Amino acid sequence: MYAEPISIDHGKGGHVFDLEGRRYLDFFGGVLTTMIGHDNPAVTAAVQAQAAKVMHTSTLYLSEPMISLAEKIAALSGIPDARVFFTTSGSEANDTAILLATSYRKSNQVLAMRNSYHGRSFTAQAITSHRSWSSTSLSGLTVNFVQGGYRLRSPFRDLDDDAFTEACTDDLTQVIDMMTAGDVACLIAEPIQGVGGFATPPDGFFSSISKVLSNHGILFVSDEVQTGWGRTGDHFWGYQAHDIVPDMLTFAKGVGNGITLAGIVARAEIMDTINVLNFSTFGGNPLSASAGSATIDYVLENDLQANAKQMGERFRAALQPVVDRTDWIAELRGRGLMQAIETVHPGGIEPDPGRAALVLEGCKERGLLVGKGGLYGNVIRIAPMLDVSPSEIDEGLAALIGAIDAIE
Ligand SMILES: Cc1ncc(COP(=O)(O)O)c(C=O)c1O
Repeated sequence: MYAEPISIDHGKGGHVFDLEGRRYLDFFGGVLTTMIGHDNPAVTAAVQAQAAKVMHTSTLYLSEPMISLAEKIAALSGIPDARVFFTTSGSEANDTAILLATSYRKSNQVLAMRNSYHGRSFTAQAITSHRSWSSTSLSGLTVNFVQGGYRLRSPFRDLDDDAFTEACTDDLTQVIDMMTAGDVACLIAEPIQGVGGFATPPDGFFSSISKVLSNHGILFVSDEVQTGWGRTGDHFWGYQAHDIVPDMLTFAKGVGNGITLAGIVARAEIMDTINVLNFSTFGGNPLSASAGSATIDYVLENDLQANAKQMGERFRAALQPVVDRTDWIAELRGRGLMQAIETVHPGGIEPDPGRAALVLEGCKERGLLVGKGGLYGNVIRIAPMLDVSPSEIDEGLAALIGAIDAIE
């Protein structure tokens, strides 16, 4: 990613230190995964205590850390009669969602959004619509990709919010009517597309989409791998910006604050579709579950969703004028502590990955880690810890703005 790679030795709070002892403010968290600070004392203590008790049992046995975490997530999910199944990665969680939806609906037809990323497993690749990350089109699924929230490069980009949502909803109807055999299993979508460059649809977008889905009995799966746990500030889950409740949601990344933990929440009638033996060696592992419970408790007890909102607003307020005066930045977009800028050649929207690379390097030189992404590698993604402080936001802004202003 960098011309000279960084080798991270250790982290403390919002910062990491490389092998040479250089300190970086971490505004990417290993891709939105270290969520409440490196070396968070609550998570470290929970993991240490659990490691001293038992590290592994498998799902053959009842495990108190796994059960209490499942109950916590089920209650938070907003999904009625919720059941939780733990996996070790977001890809595997999305695989499970597709397994459940296709079994429940007895159909191999799936819809996903353009510019989506859902993981690197065989099934997750099949529902990924992102040229740089799509390694194969082979799968047992029939997948159609519908118009989504990547507005800057959408054919509907010039429309206002309502008209944009209506156009995408019409597209969905047409895809169902013209390109499927009619009995589609599900639509899977990220409420804000992560790898796709924090592409953010208008509020209510998925409400309109969901109406069409429910008219056809099609399930809605919300991939909350990046948008969950309050990161978007206004909501605990990304789907809540749309006044809907999904049939299933998948989670991963931030929930373990860096310890391997992921999973899926589904209504019981959907989860119970699988009635053969079902097992995951490491899913819900006691160490991971302890880290997950400690992380969620910390987020809730410290109301980090509110912090994400405030710090996101502070960040945007300072960065927007810089974006406005910089002719090679097309837009600042995102929500809460998921913010992105897209770099283009001045005078249009032709992608400029070169300048994005310069921003990335310029931030590094100034002691700040941010992420790169987007369809053309021309989006800088900024995702600070949920407990980021005002002074850390200002420190990150100074580095980012310094890096932007140093570029022609
Ligand atoms: C939205 C989304 N879904 C799924 C995944 C896959 O998760 P994992 O890398 O844990 O398999 C990712 C990873 O970046 C993601 O961003």
